[in-house]
Amino acid sequence: MVDIAENERTWLLSGPSSSYALHLTEEDELLHLHWGPSIALVDAEALAVRPLPGYWPFETPLDGREEYPVEGGPRFVRPALSVRTEERRGTEWTFTGHEVEGDELRLRFWDAGLAITLHYRMRGDVVERWVTLDNEGPARVELLRADAATWTLPDREGWRLSQLHGRWAAESRLTSAPLTHGEKVIGSRRGHTGHQHLPWVALDTDATEERGEVYGCALGWSGSWRIAVAQLPDARVQITGGAGYDESGLLMLEAGESYTSPVFAGLWSDGGFGGASRTWHAYQRAHIIPDADRDRPVLFNSWEATNFDISEDQQSALARRAAAIGVELFVVDDGWFGARTSDRAGLGDWTPNPDRFPNGLKPLADSVHALGMQFGIWVEPEMINPDSDLYRAHPDWVQYQSGRKRTELRNQLVLNLAREDVQEYLWEQLDALLSSAPIDYVKWDFNRCFTDAGWPGEPYPQRLWVDHVRAFYALLDRLRAAHPGVAFESCSGGGGRIDLGVMSRTDQVWTSDNTDPLDRLAIQHGFTQIHPARVMAAWVTDSPNTQLNGRFSSLRFRFVSSMAGVLGVGGDLAEWSEEELTEAGEWVELYKEIRPVVQRGELYRLRPPEGGLSAVQYVLGDETVVLACLQAQSYGEPVPALRLRGLDPTASYECRETGEIHRGAVLLHHGLRAGLRGDFDAAVFRLRRI
Ligand code: DGJ
Repeated sequence: MVDIAENERTWLLSGPSSSYALHLTEEDELLHLHWGPSIALVDAEALAVRPLPGYWPFETPLDGREEYPVEGGPRFVRPALSVRTEERRGTEWTFTGHEVEGDELRLRFWDAGLAITLHYRMRGDVVERWVTLDNEGPARVELLRADAATWTLPDREGWRLSQLHGRWAAESRLTSAPLTHGEKVIGSRRGHTGHQHLPWVALDTDATEERGEVYGCALGWSGSWRIAVAQLPDARVQITGGAGYDESGLLMLEAGESYTSPVFAGLWSDGGFGGASRTWHAYQRAHIIPDADRDRPVLFNSWEATNFDISEDQQSALARRAAAIGVELFVVDDGWFGARTSDRAGLGDWTPNPDRFPNGLKPLADSVHALGMQFGIWVEPEMINPDSDLYRAHPDWVQYQSGRKRTELRNQLVLNLAREDVQEYLWEQLDALLSSAPIDYVKWDFNRCFTDAGWPGEPYPQRLWVDHVRAFYALLDRLRAAHPGVAFESCSGGGGRIDLGVMSRTDQVWTSDNTDPLDRLAIQHGFTQIHPARVMAAWVTDSPNTQLNGRFSSLRFRFVSSMAGVLGVGGDLAEWSEEELTEAGEWVELYKEIRPVVQRGELYRLRPPEGGLSAVQYVLGDETVVLACLQAQSYGEPVPALRLRGLDPTASYECRETGEIHRGAVLLHHGLRAGLRGDFDAAVFRLRRI
């Protein structure tokens, strides 16, 4: 809901439990007023007339208070908007009006032919912000930087910054540290979202998992990006974020051209980190994730089992075993196409390898369907091996600089998706692939960063960074429209492309190539700070772990760890014993039963992964599920009881595992005894309100 003051210079956006307010001065300075608990318009108006601190020649009252600081004039903070024309640099805008359409507020400004529109939309308690820039003048305008938004925090002492950092096979690790004066900058200059940081930050002063104020911001962009958190000289804190890593140039807007930034979403919660997460999850389920009400199937993926060494017969045999344990979607990973018998060849040639699939994919897809499962396939469309028919035909279709070497990572180069001929080629190949066989699912991978992002002959090659992402999105959108029954997974060597942008056009994401169930608990703990279990793919693989660390763990532990998200199986089922297959079948059956609660419920992180005992809880209506994982018991001491959350203290709950009836108040205040012992023990508890 948007309320507007009578003078049409103060605006108030309201969600169920929070408000956001801003004000335009007589000098057309757009000031931030409030972001936090619900207030009334009259409160926003009272804030608007509070005088700004005095002006000093070495400081400016605008710094730390503006909604969208532009470059130029009395401002020394990092500008959200930095533009230049042949004549001048910077912006001096005038306000031209506002409009409200539905729940979206638009504020319009003008500077010498450049129309600048700031967009605000409240979805639940999440504020979405973005900008559009329209070059309506005759001159070209270079956008050096055009952030989506700048967020302003209230005056508090002792801000703490939380972020999700990582690297390949170690993504989404939560870390927190006091914010000090100056700037903390995170982002990616790699062309994709990156494993190194999820585009999310949270700021608090004294919050715990379930209590206290938390501010969170998350960017919806799958290319290079930057979020800068600044503690300014007078201790005010602002967070600025958008596409592109630095100010080297984002886009050239010719006369008549426009740029729309990605959405930078933000929320305030007084429910601690858990409350903030649940607001993020509800927002994504309601507004971002396609078909979020449709539960994701249990999948099998061939990668860890068979790597590049695949054949139709061997995949059929795996499919039979997968079907027997209850798998619902069978996905053939890398190695089915072109000359792809290793990572040295074949990327770019999206037709089945004739030796491995002499009659194409249809016979395998049909046999998978006959087993009662859906059929999925792996692709990596944005990449090309120099050893491919495509590269031999079009060596100029890749990103490269004239006269410079073409850097190969994993023996591959990046296609220049900004080129229309490349876009059209990929569309034709993928459309033909999806039409060639009954394919229900596409795992879309991206396995290297940009290194030679050049485009010989293009007057403004820098645009390639933004246009690659736009083309990737457009291709996904076009494929989804043409093949509405096909679901897509975003993968980038695991979790290298996870953000609100890709999530709005894919059905789930590959969380990490690290399938070690213990490491996964920490990765999942970080991941769920922002994203819901509904998209968090997690596979049960072999013990000892073949990909990473050789760790032995029980099948029980592996399953319970993976049941916290979208369960998958990625082990070599051909090598699993009858007992293991039987046990696996029982876990899969149990998962299917708890799946609606896990995938659609409210998530409570009961205990973090550090400390040996970790637990998560999901609540949906009268149903509650608790997943508990014990890494190691020490000194023979009983493991602590798990204090549950989100229950009615006055109600009783029946535990399906033990048959015991528990009072809600007892579960909330004294906890559930999980009875775990030894090493790598784990359990699932289903509780129903009676
Ligand atoms: C990286 C992915 O993360 C893996 O799951 C697998 O699909 C490989 N690529 C295949 O090359």
